Amino acid sequence: MDFVITINSHVHTPLHRQVYEELRQAILSGRLAPGQKLPSTRSLAQSLSISRATVTQGYEQLLSEGYLETTIGSGTFVCRQLPDDLLQTPPIESTSQVTNSPISLSAYGVSLTERSLFRLPEPEAQISFSYGRPAFDKFPLHVWRQLLSRHCRVNTDVLDYTNNSMGDQRLREAIAAYLSRSRAVKCSAEQIIIIDGSQQGLDLITRLLINRGDWIAVEDPGYLGARRAFLANGARLFPVSVDESGLLVTNLTTDITPKIKLIYVTPSHQFPTGALLSLPRRLELLAWAHKSEAIIIEDDYDSEYRYGQRPIPALQGLDHRNSVIYVGTFSKVLFPALRLGYLVLPHTLVDVFTRAKWLADRQSSLLEQHALTDFINEGHLERHIRRMRSLYDQRRQTLVKSLAAHFGDKVTIIGENAGMHLMVKINTTLSDQEIVQGAAHLGVGINAAHSYYLKTSPGSEFVLGYAELNEQKIQDGIDRLAQIILNS
Ligand SMILES: Cc1ncc(COP(=O)(O)O)c(C=O)c1O
Repeated sequence: MDFVITINSHVHTPLHRQVYEELRQAILSGRLAPGQKLPSTRSLAQSLSISRATVTQGYEQLLSEGYLETTIGSGTFVCRQLPDDLLQTPPIESTSQVTNSPISLSAYGVSLTERSLFRLPEPEAQISFSYGRPAFDKFPLHVWRQLLSRHCRVNTDVLDYTNNSMGDQRLREAIAAYLSRSRAVKCSAEQIIIIDGSQQGLDLITRLLINRGDWIAVEDPGYLGARRAFLANGARLFPVSVDESGLLVTNLTTDITPKIKLIYVTPSHQFPTGALLSLPRRLELLAWAHKSEAIIIEDDYDSEYRYGQRPIPALQGLDHRNSVIYVGTFSKVLFPALRLGYLVLPHTLVDVFTRAKWLADRQSSLLEQHALTDFINEGHLERHIRRMRSLYDQRRQTLVKSLAAHFGDKVTIIGENAGMHLMVKINTTLSDQEIVQGAAHLGVGINAAHSYYLKTSPGSEFVLGYAELNEQKIQDGIDRLAQIILNS
């Protein structure tokens, strides 16, 4: 039996006394339960690198006080009938006591206690229009399983630390080639770092480029995951409004614009409005970033899904001045629990990001990296994306038709030509809360868009994710939503 106790040879308390105290505490706190067998004196002495006589002395003291009992031939056990007064251990602290504990938090820790940084759990719903979840049942799990087992079989290196925190070289090459083909991103494998999903990328970017009090410009409305990572690291946020052509770049050049260090954008599919940043605005944004020495974070989270329109090249591919950090993720095209994504960095930043990744978590899981490399190189990724694009397109059309059929001119649909969600503006006298709660009551989960705004939200806007829902569920869900809104 392995049992860990702490012995310190540099203090005055004799070692046998320390053995006695540690075991006594373990019994009183319940760590060693009544009837539980103790390690033999020989094995405990060996594991603590002390003499067996010292351990025996400690055991004997506990035996004489009734904490332990021996059975000849079987060993030493915690006494089965410990007197109750011995077992009066202090109660485990309640959560509120923990919160009020005098342990002082860092500035980062304190920022996480801010309510605005909490992630509120989404209620379970029979039909959930929650955004960002792919069609899990269509993922080719059998292929994935084969690839994982292939790499488990041939290669014990997948169990080891790697010398390269940037990520597996073959995976980075596969991603560089894929990005160049499909997104017109200009990069080599040497500029790519594998990360645990875009969230880790956003966290590393903020920690490496932002000092407390620096300004980051963000789209308004915008993605909460990014905003929270920025705020938690002490940044100040400068909201920039968006319209149907994406970020209003002219709002970055007003008299009240502070010195912006970073700007976070989702140009292929603005979150949550779905707007596509137009080419003139892209060029305007790059020119502004160059002039103001700001870095652009391009979050290209679901750009693979574009319906009936030509894909727009990434901002990164238009940049000639190393102003863009491109953030990509496999959470949408594959599945979020994979926790794999990538950063495409200007050459000058690669080294420091590699060191930060090493400090953060050493490396992303090697087994998954190898499986993913084969998944890309053997054509499964692009095949899966093609299939999902067509499936999501059908689901999107079903949603648009259902909304139009039920709500007519009471609904305006925004940003339906891309991604895995769309936004609706509903003409209603009900409050957002009444609608969300009413929908939940009928088993439908929807998100009101007001929490994505930093400035005042216009209200009555909702984000509807559809990728995970089959057509029947989509129709059913909109039918129930209409009952609440139209019957009010
Ligand atoms: C705008 C945006 N970026 C990125 C992500 C994905 O984050 P991750 O790669 O950490 O799963 C999401 C998820 O919904 C998102 O909405």
